Amino acid sequence: MTKNLSWHASSVGKLQRAGGKRQKPCILWLTGLSAAGKSTIANLLEQELFLCGAHTYLLDGDNLRHGLNRDLGFADADRQENIRRAAEVAHLFVDAGIIVIAAFISPFRRDRELARRLVAPGEFLEIFVDTPLEECERRDPKGLYRRARCGLISHFTGIDSAYEVPLDPEMRLTTLGWTPAQNACAIVDYLREGGYLR
Ligand code: ADX
Repeated sequence: MTKNLSWHASSVGKLQRAGGKRQKPCILWLTGLSAAGKSTIANLLEQELFLCGAHTYLLDGDNLRHGLNRDLGFADADRQENIRRAAEVAHLFVDAGIIVIAAFISPFRRDRELARRLVAPGEFLEIFVDTPLEECERRDPKGLYRRARCGLISHFTGIDSAYEVPLDPEMRLTTLGWTPAQNACAIVDYLREGGYLR
């Protein structure tokens, strides 16, 4: 695919681009079932980081599917392509010196691993939003689980499409007994301790 193409290296690199921002660019990759709380935590996290003076960008699965990924559905191959594109975009933002928050179900380990390998070690933080299926189904804010159970939606994650639990995530968040705000704060603490925010 890259035949007859060359790579043009830019003379300003990501460290220079991030330098003035007093932050270490990275991807905070939130993965978990639909209705696990990814988007809510991601939004609160972005607010917190904004208050700390960080420069962020939020990539949300539902939102990207309105534009860049509007041609994709939910069959395995489409999800794979969805995550591949999202990861490439996240990579570009890291190159721009930005802290990226990515919130995608991203059900397959292989695709999350490919996303991790696009950036340098320490730049990809996998954050498992670990809400059990029963709780997601009880919440069902968009009525999607109910529709999937009635057979009105096919390939629904957790019902008739797999979710592969992260084996060794940088963070695992539980949303039972913890508010989204507490979980967002836990991520900010992690970033401070890891030297991502200065
Ligand atoms: S992913 O699996 O490809 O990573 P993504 O995060 O982009 O999914 O989109 C998930 C969102 O699409 C869900 O939050 C839900 O609102 C919606 N959705 C619609 N159909 C499905 C489906 N079959 N499975 C999961 N989510 C679906």
